[in-house]
Amino acid sequence: MSAEKNAANFASHEGSVTLNPAEEGVAAVSPGEEGRAAVAGGYSPEVRARLEQDAKEIISRYPRTRSALLPLLHLVQSEDGYVSDAGQEFCAEMLGLTKAEVVGVATFYTMYKRRPMGDYHVGVCINTLCAIMGGDQIWDELSEHVGVGHDEATPDGKVSLERLECNAACDFAPVMMVNWEFFDNQTPASAKQLVDDLRDGKDVSPTRGPKKLCTFKEASRVLAGLPDELAGDGPSAAGASLEGLKVAKANGWKAPEA
Ligand code: FES
Repeated sequence: MSAEKNAANFASHEGSVTLNPAEEGVAAVSPGEEGRAAVAGGYSPEVRARLEQDAKEIISRYPRTRSALLPLLHLVQSEDGYVSDAGQEFCAEMLGLTKAEVVGVATFYTMYKRRPMGDYHVGVCINTLCAIMGGDQIWDELSEHVGVGHDEATPDGKVSLERLECNAACDFAPVMMVNWEFFDNQTPASAKQLVDDLRDGKDVSPTRGPKKLCTFKEASRVLAGLPDELAGDGPSAAGASLEGLKVAKANGWKAPEA
């Protein structure tokens, strides 16, 4: 939640736009064409039918309909690249909630975006360990290099940046994420190269996880609970994360019985 609040406070970066979405509206940063379509008066019948089908499947997994709000917000984000006004209305309608209830949840969590993000949403961890290992420097240089600030997208809609709090990968600090896939042990130079490669359309592989990155919309669909069958691809743990396990095995240590 703190990142959401931070978004309202950061000064606008030169060449970009005002950062307070509450004051400036969701169209403050140049969105992709698809994102714009959803803002201007709801979903087309085809899109709505498709979303309804997915939403009904998700809702059927929960004993109480309203419990499906979080995945449904990811679902509409997978359509628009952010939680649009049309998306909020769709969620309210599908779940029998007021729009105020939907907005209250959508604005609480930082993973729900209030304006269109880029195809590749790049997060730089600036929490304590990453910060002192170089995360703050990475953020400063990357933000200047790309020309956008926190939760802002480049005008071509390819990349957006976010200052992230701890990603639970402190043993690989400083860490970055792209569409929630890990890029470990970064430097300012590697971070800038990564974003340049993404903007140039080059294939980029996360340090862990699947070999190829999906888009922000595709990642949002997975978070909605509609898997892309890539969850088991690539290593999920490596390097420093496994050192303690090796020591335990070498010494015959075991966790106490429950
Ligand atoms: S502080 Fe960056 S991953 Fe924990």
